[in-house]
Amino acid sequence: MIDGKKTLFSGMQATGNLTIGNYLGALKNWITLDEEYQCFYSVVDLHSITVRQDPAELRKRARALLTLYIAAGLDPAKNCIYYQSHVSAHAELSWILNCFTYMGELNRMTQFKDKSAKHADNINAGLFTYPVLMAADILLFQADVVPVGIDQKQHLEITRDIAERFNNIYGDVFTIPEPYIGKVGAKIMSLQEPDKKMSKSDENLNASIYLMDDPDSIIRKFKRAVTDSDNQIIYSEDKPGIRNLIDIYSSVMNLTTDEVVKEFDQRQIIY
Ligand code: TYM
Repeated sequence: MIDGKKTLFSGMQATGNLTIGNYLGALKNWITLDEEYQCFYSVVDLHSITVRQDPAELRKRARALLTLYIAAGLDPAKNCIYYQSHVSAHAELSWILNCFTYMGELNRMTQFKDKSAKHADNINAGLFTYPVLMAADILLFQADVVPVGIDQKQHLEITRDIAERFNNIYGDVFTIPEPYIGKVGAKIMSLQEPDKKMSKSDENLNASIYLMDDPDSIIRKFKRAVTDSDNQIIYSEDKPGIRNLIDIYSSVMNLTTDEVVKEFDQRQIIY
């Protein structure tokens, strides 16, 4: 608790270009939270070196990401915004927490399984212990709340487990953090394979809308989005492509998914 406010921590990797998944799942929520919480937002550049990086390029990307935080509406006067690699305590606490984390727990992390399949030539120990560094980020600040997309939920669960284990041995050292996951936009899917998460690193550039895409590319990508062969706009598990487009629209327009379906129903009647 700082100045009577609870503490909030979150971060993004400086790898690849931000997508609307990152924006709608995380950044858009971040900018609304500085009245209620004492906020810390990091550019988590140490996390990025689990895959090989060109140092100059990584520095450039980290800086670009920090400017995007501000451009998206994070006020640096009200939020602490910083580079993870400039605060050595992240790596120091990560080592300590490594000694309180089990191999079996890390083995279950789906992101580790996905990333090691993707980078089969470089399955390094950092990729494996990545969630421990993430736990250190959060626990270092005694964060009460961590706003993230659904894909990070498992990492939040292991953070809580590590903190509870540590507290059981040494007393109340760490605050146990809660995930903060938005009602809409928490899992934006690929526009080309709507059963797969939209990702910064997708090789198919039509699958993701990047925050820095120009308006024409954005329109073209949405027009080419994979949907299905019937022409109904229904929010349903059986229609992942349409469902994803409804999620994106409702999140951008601040509407419920029911309201979006109704709006498009009416448009169909008019056309
Ligand atoms: P990263 O950099 O992959 O993603 C940053 C944030 O964007 C969210 N996100 C999405 N939300 C909705 N739909 C999507 N398709 C989508 N893709 C990404 C992520 O959930 C995340 O909130 N390990 C983290 C970075 C990290 C971190 C932390 C986060 C390191 N330490 C401590 C919170 C707290 C990561 O790789 O996020």
